[in-house]
Amino acid sequence: AAEGDRRITEIQDWNRYLGAGVDAAPYGLPSKFEKDVVRRDVAWLTADATSSVNFTPLHALDGIITPNGLCFERHHGGVAEIPPEDHRLMINGLVDRPMVFTMEDLHRFPRENRVYFLECAANSGMEWRGAQLNGCQYTHGMVHCVMYTGTPLKNLLNEAGLRSSGKWLLAEGADASAMTRSIPIEKALDDCLVAWKMNGEALRPEQGYPVRLVVPGWEGNMWVKWLRRLEVGDAPWEQREETSKYTDLLADGKARKFTFQMEVKSVITAPSPQAPVTHGKGRTVITGLAWSGNGTIRRVDVSLDGGRNWHAARIDPQSFSKAVHRFYYDFDWDGSELLLQSRAMDEKGFVQPTKEALRKARGANSIYHNNGIQTWHLKTDGALENVEVS
Ligand code: MTE
Ligand code: CO
Repeated sequence: AAEGDRRITEIQDWNRYLGAGVDAAPYGLPSKFEKDVVRRDVAWLTADATSSVNFTPLHALDGIITPNGLCFERHHGGVAEIPPEDHRLMINGLVDRPMVFTMEDLHRFPRENRVYFLECAANSGMEWRGAQLNGCQYTHGMVHCVMYTGTPLKNLLNEAGLRSSGKWLLAEGADASAMTRSIPIEKALDDCLVAWKMNGEALRPEQGYPVRLVVPGWEGNMWVKWLRRLEVGDAPWEQREETSKYTDLLADGKARKFTFQMEVKSVITAPSPQAPVTHGKGRTVITGLAWSGNGTIRRVDVSLDGGRNWHAARIDPQSFSKAVHRFYYDFDWDGSELLLQSRAMDEKGFVQPTKEALRKARGANSIYHNNGIQTWHLKTDGALENVEVS
């Protein structure tokens, strides 16, 4: 360069003066230069903020762990504020010994740590009929992935003396919406957790402090927050959130019910509409997330031409079953227009469908369980737009 770079040739303020001392932020906060990396909502989506949703800023994150303060929030009756010493978890129904646990009681059960994704069944729901929202935060941001600490749900059920006639479990929240869902007992005894920590610290209020249910691989709605009651029964309860909501209306007028499992899915998080290419052509990193309720991700392919040709992406080895996987595709961008897509395959061999194939199978009326392939149109100036190709 003709002129020297003054960041090199001149001493900068941060080099010349002392910085803030320890304890300037007893509970640390992100750099002020990251102030745009926040959860965001879509104003027209819901009538008010207490029964609403905001979205994880996926475009700005990397790795597989979502920072606690950026985990999307979905609540139907606002955030309950519960003093932990006043919280109770009751088990009743088809058990030999109905029980009430305090938080202190729960903390004395054997603990486990597990990393899982939570995806709302409505994630990508607004995209069902066509491309709509410009940014993966909005199209795919109803997912987060953290390490939970808690006790396996089966420990509590065994303590209460689960009867063999018990086939279903009702989980109920202590919030104003009293979120209530039926869960098959096999799932409850398999890998569900009653969790009170996320990423090592107490659950955030938005995520169900002091305790929530973790239902790995299954739709977020079943992960009851502020968990106050578990009832064992012999049939599902047919609650509002499993009949009128969280069902999928098909083209023939019938609705799919109890579609618990989250299917294989992926999205390119950067570049994407909120994370444009600012460096021009040349060396370019494509990155994204892939996940499946079936377990691990076996492979992710990336297309630069709207699905005509596919290239194997690199899956970062730091990955867990029923957690998000981080993938990368490094390439040399020639500066021309591209149609970026990612397509994941899970350990059971399920492959993410095109949106067209999904609509063919399920009709145009669905909201929930959209795992279709996402397309970003990369333009010559590096800007991107949410589009659909056929
Ligand atoms: N649990 C209670 N008690 N109340 C709620 O409104 N919302 C559910 C579920 N559990 C909800 C709840 C829905 S629809 C989802 S997607 C997840 O919580 C969202 O969890 P999060 O807010 O930690 O992202
Ligand atoms: Co939800």
